[in-house]
Amino acid sequence: MSFAEVLGSHRVVVTVGSGGVGKTTTAAAMAVHAAMEGRTVLCLTIDPARRLANSLGLDEMRTSEQDVPRSLFESNGLECKGALSAMMLDTKRTFDGLVEKYASDEESRDRILNNQIYQYVASSLAGTQEYMAMEKLHEVRKDPKWDLVVLDTPPTASALDFLTAPERLIDAIDSPAMRWFLQVFEGAGKEAFGLVGRGATVLLKGIGKITGLEFLEQVAEFVSGINDLFGGFKERAEQVSDALRSPEVAFVLVTSPDPLAIGEARFFSDKLEDAGMNREGIIVNQVHTLIDEPDLSAEEQVAALRAALPESIDAADIQPRLSEALRAERGWAIADRVQVDRLGEQVGEDARIVEVPAFDQDVHDLAALARVASYLTVGA
Ligand SMILES: Nc1ncnc2c1ncn2[C@@H]1O[C@H](COP(=O)(O)OP(=O)(O)O)[C@@H](O)[C@H]1O
Ligand SMILES: [Mg+2]
Repeated sequence: MSFAEVLGSHRVVVTVGSGGVGKTTTAAAMAVHAAMEGRTVLCLTIDPARRLANSLGLDEMRTSEQDVPRSLFESNGLECKGALSAMMLDTKRTFDGLVEKYASDEESRDRILNNQIYQYVASSLAGTQEYMAMEKLHEVRKDPKWDLVVLDTPPTASALDFLTAPERLIDAIDSPAMRWFLQVFEGAGKEAFGLVGRGATVLLKGIGKITGLEFLEQVAEFVSGINDLFGGFKERAEQVSDALRSPEVAFVLVTSPDPLAIGEARFFSDKLEDAGMNREGIIVNQVHTLIDEPDLSAEEQVAALRAALPESIDAADIQPRLSEALRAERGWAIADRVQVDRLGEQVGEDARIVEVPAFDQDVHDLAALARVASYLTVGA
């Protein structure tokens, strides 16, 4: 199966890898390709990167869907047979949406949304962004409007966090500490399950006189709010976790030829496999191309440069520098080749590795994204 087939046979494609390797770029390139091929595609990113927005003809990435204008494809000499939209993930908004969905009534919904501890957890707690990316994915995956959703994952320090985010949320809510906390409140108030919050607030108000009433009120409110959402959240996190293993979800590893990045990609690949998720390919991005050595002597090179360059440039002066630059570039290319070949041997033949060369310039427009895609789908 080629990468074009991976895009053609899945509803969701997720790019994963360490920071700076080109996840955002390759995710956008795949989205552009699929849209050109006739599918209705959502490119969902975590990255507010202005460069990406600009490449897609947008002023900035927004947390609501924006259509990439068809005319932009045309002005880049491309034909879009389908449609492409882009959206940036809003962690807090996604979490709020969950609260709205699972709160038992309006009052408890507002109580938790306005709670300061909730607001902290929803926007800043480590792992929340990863979980919400998965959550959003689960939501849009079900939306029949999209033929394909390409998700670019957050630049997590530990890529593992991202995969296990739903499980960790379940663990956090279902932790002995949380259960103890809830039990204390329940015991104290001898209240029915649904009224735990009120009992807890009363209890904590008492302590609050000495330790900072407002903070404790917030804690009590948060705990009772979580209690209210407990069943819904847990069930949802389990659904999200299952959804990640569904055959319609493909994970694509992205790496540079750098040994460190490759090491991380391999580690990650093993984890995907252990977790029962579908690793459908590896993109090695920014590979230096091996340029042939010139078959002209140094003198002939100077003569050729002199003929090609304006007189004001001293050909004899720049030839050794160009030679040196070429040697360095060839050195990079040879090192990259060794790394990519080794990766191929390690992951085996069925791993489907594609290479994208390092371009002279940043990927900054739609044509460049389509060019990246052409390497991904080569031989398709
Ligand atoms: N094949 C490539 N050639 C040249 N520049 C690239 C290539 N792929 C990505 N880039 C550039 O590298 C930078 C990092 O890419 P990005 O996709 O943002 O990485 P990530 O999302 O993994 O952090 C961007 O400036 C992007 O334009
Ligand atoms: Mg990125």
